[in-house]
Amino acid sequence: MMLLEATNLRKHFGKHTSVDGISFDIEQGSCVALLGPNGAGKTTTLRMLAGLLEPDSGLISFDGGQPGGDYRKALGYLPQAPSLYGWMSGQEYVLFAAKLSGLNSREAADRGAEVLERVGLKEHARRRISGYSGGMKQRLGLAQALVHRPRLLLLDEPVSALDPLGRREVMELLRDIRDETTIVFSTHVLHDAEEICDHIILMNRGRIAEQGPLASLRSQYSLPVIRLRTEKMSGARKWLEELASRSFVLESRFAGEDVMFNVNDVELARHTILSEAVSREIPLLHFETGSSTLEDLFMKVVGA
Ligand SMILES: Nc1ncnc2c1ncn2[C@@H]1O[C@H](COP(=O)(O)OP(=O)(O)O)[C@@H](O)[C@H]1O
Ligand SMILES: [Mg+2]
Repeated sequence: MMLLEATNLRKHFGKHTSVDGISFDIEQGSCVALLGPNGAGKTTTLRMLAGLLEPDSGLISFDGGQPGGDYRKALGYLPQAPSLYGWMSGQEYVLFAAKLSGLNSREAADRGAEVLERVGLKEHARRRISGYSGGMKQRLGLAQALVHRPRLLLLDEPVSALDPLGRREVMELLRDIRDETTIVFSTHVLHDAEEICDHIILMNRGRIAEQGPLASLRSQYSLPVIRLRTEKMSGARKWLEELASRSFVLESRFAGEDVMFNVNDVELARHTILSEAVSREIPLLHFETGSSTLEDLFMKVVGA
């Protein structure tokens, strides 16, 4: 079942188009990574989904309702740089968020205590937020976003600003929360997306470059590749460029002395490359056959 359907969303600021007509569905119960480099349009997209930013055009329909309907009560949102009030205690902050979301005092107190325990901050609930670590602050941010049991959780780069330990804390928490609610989280790190998500929406320059279930993107992009590196010399470079135009090479990518060829015939490619390297006396430093990965796709999209 679809929880949210976005159709042709567009947003510009001045002359700059930040989100350029994107459409996607969020399936109930899924964990979706909104993946893309800085400036791709992730935050703008999440703010539109959260109802904080009016799209220039396009429609958002939540839970089969009329496009444009108000579904904000069903949302939890954690902004990229949340402004937590350092002078408040964790407990005060969560109560404050609970009341803002419409819970009465009794519900707010019960539910606040429950989520603080849920995110592992029960013991620190009475401490001032200013004394929290980065990971603790982000977990408090998650508590705030979860307090009213949202059906959809929107998280903007929840782990990007954290050190490795804090990142681990929050990723593990997200892995648990994933079973309770539908999550969309943005990241510029493919690895984070692969770690906990089942769907990926890959954005670049305001557009969606690829989207779909992680597993099918993986198999779709698992194409035969050859990676090689030669010693730095002009003859080698010329030869590599020549190779790139052979019929067995579908696509090539050069990065300094490293070259990657997508090939349609690994055997032919291997034989040709190795025998030519010998006959032309080109010093090969590295030669590897394998499959392309999502990392290759990500680099290709980002580099484009
Ligand atoms: N309020 C704003 N005013 C002007 N430009 C903006 C504003 N918000 C975002 N942008 C621009 O829109 C583009 C996408 O930004 P953003 O959605 O924040 O990307 P991401 O979150 O993927 O890094 C960027 O080029 C950014 O500079
Ligand atoms: Mg952002």
